[in-house]
Amino acid sequence: MLNDVIAIIVSYLLGSISFSIVIAKWVKGIDIRQHGSGNAGATNTLRVLGKGPGILVFLLDIAKGVGAVWIGHGLGGNEWIPVLCGVAAIAGHNWPVWFRFKGGKGIATTVGVIATLAFVPALIAGVVAIAVIAVTRYVSLGSLLFAALTPVFISIFYYSLPLLCVSLLICVFAFVRHRTNIVKLLQGTENKLGAKKGT
Ligand code: G3P
Repeated sequence: MLNDVIAIIVSYLLGSISFSIVIAKWVKGIDIRQHGSGNAGATNTLRVLGKGPGILVFLLDIAKGVGAVWIGHGLGGNEWIPVLCGVAAIAGHNWPVWFRFKGGKGIATTVGVIATLAFVPALIAGVVAIAVIAVTRYVSLGSLLFAALTPVFISIFYYSLPLLCVSLLICVFAFVRHRTNIVKLLQGTENKLGAKKGT
């Protein structure tokens, strides 16, 4: 039991390492949350700092999700712990204790968590999301689709209650964090990939 609690807390602390904030500070001496869309994530790093830093942040944020699930497998006493560790890492990314609880939208970390827990659903949802982003240039639309499709594919390919419950919770996180993007998508004013200026 103590190991379970420790695993979840360590996962939250790991998720709270906001690589976009750290790298933007390091590369350009800026707070990424005051530039572009204001989001502490890979898309906004790409927008503000360019491809190299954007890809680096994306990979490191994915790695946080993978690492958290591994921590859960290593320390956890039952099948709920790896999935709860994954959620804790996403919560850390979104509301990071190290950065006054103002973080990102959690999608790259979600990709790492879901891909580690349920590879096939993550792969199919990922392919759909990438196709939608390629066609529309809306990263937020692809992100929301990924979050919404993973519970669907998990329910088709897996029969794990913890995984299904947690993927639904992760989906709620994604929609809550993207509420501004959703309004802009509906209004037709959402930032497109490749457009320089964010709001
Ligand atoms: O994962 C974040 C992405 O979906 C949207 O980012 O910066 O365009 O709000 P941003």
